[in-house]
Amino acid sequence: MSTDNQKAHAPLLFFDSGVGGLSVLAETQKILPNAPVIYVADNAAFPYGTKSEAEIATRVPLLLGKLAERFQPRLITIACNTASTIALDSVRQVLDIPIVGTVPAIKPAAENTKTGVIGLLGTEATVRQNYIDVLAEKFARDVVLLRHGSAKLAPAAEAKIRGENVDPDIYKRAMHGLLDQPQGKRIDTVILGCTHFPLIQNELAQFCSETINFVHGGAGIARRIDYLTQGQPWPEEKQDLHFVTTGNIAELGPYEHALGAYGFAQYSTL
Ligand code: DGL
Repeated sequence: MSTDNQKAHAPLLFFDSGVGGLSVLAETQKILPNAPVIYVADNAAFPYGTKSEAEIATRVPLLLGKLAERFQPRLITIACNTASTIALDSVRQVLDIPIVGTVPAIKPAAENTKTGVIGLLGTEATVRQNYIDVLAEKFARDVVLLRHGSAKLAPAAEAKIRGENVDPDIYKRAMHGLLDQPQGKRIDTVILGCTHFPLIQNELAQFCSETINFVHGGAGIARRIDYLTQGQPWPEEKQDLHFVTTGNIAELGPYEHALGAYGFAQYSTL
């Protein structure tokens, strides 16, 4: 391969605890359709949302260091709010390539609310982060931000992608975790603050008024990736994408049908 060709084939690496990052990948593919992609799901440690800060803060930088060395990506996207709100700064300190993080879309939600009440649905770990207080203080001072952390939604999104039936009560309880709080009935914007949640947005929407607007960071992250790679070469054709799990490869079987639709054709374990 010539050096130019090598550069064009340097992958974008997407990282999440599971398949949630597909909601970010899908937006990126709209802008960079031929991008070579390595998608890494840390299935061995899924879910992140019920883990401690210490566990995430230790695991994610180590793993990303190993992945950067192995796959030599041109850029890494931490397509996970839990990992980003806890470990983004430390990952940036140890790696010498551009790192794009994913944090809840509080700013656009606060800008667009008409009622002045917005809701954040995230994992339990994400909603308790100081990072969220900082975003709220910076962008949502004049609005009420209600938060609800769900331990069940990310596993439900995984089950959906595997083609399994999910108990609708899981979606109902999560939405009511916001709507039943004081002022909850006034929420007009719900921030999907976990990358798994856009994958189940339609299911969540069944349990709230249709006037509620759902927002997430996927499109903004895709624009950021595009911006940071401006002027770089890309392959001339759409590439077969590579899915890597830290878990057992045999467990990927039920996911392959859904993953094929995103262009994945190669599966391996770390
Ligand atoms: N997709 C992840 C996020 O954005 C975390 C889901 C989980 O592992 O709990 O927060």
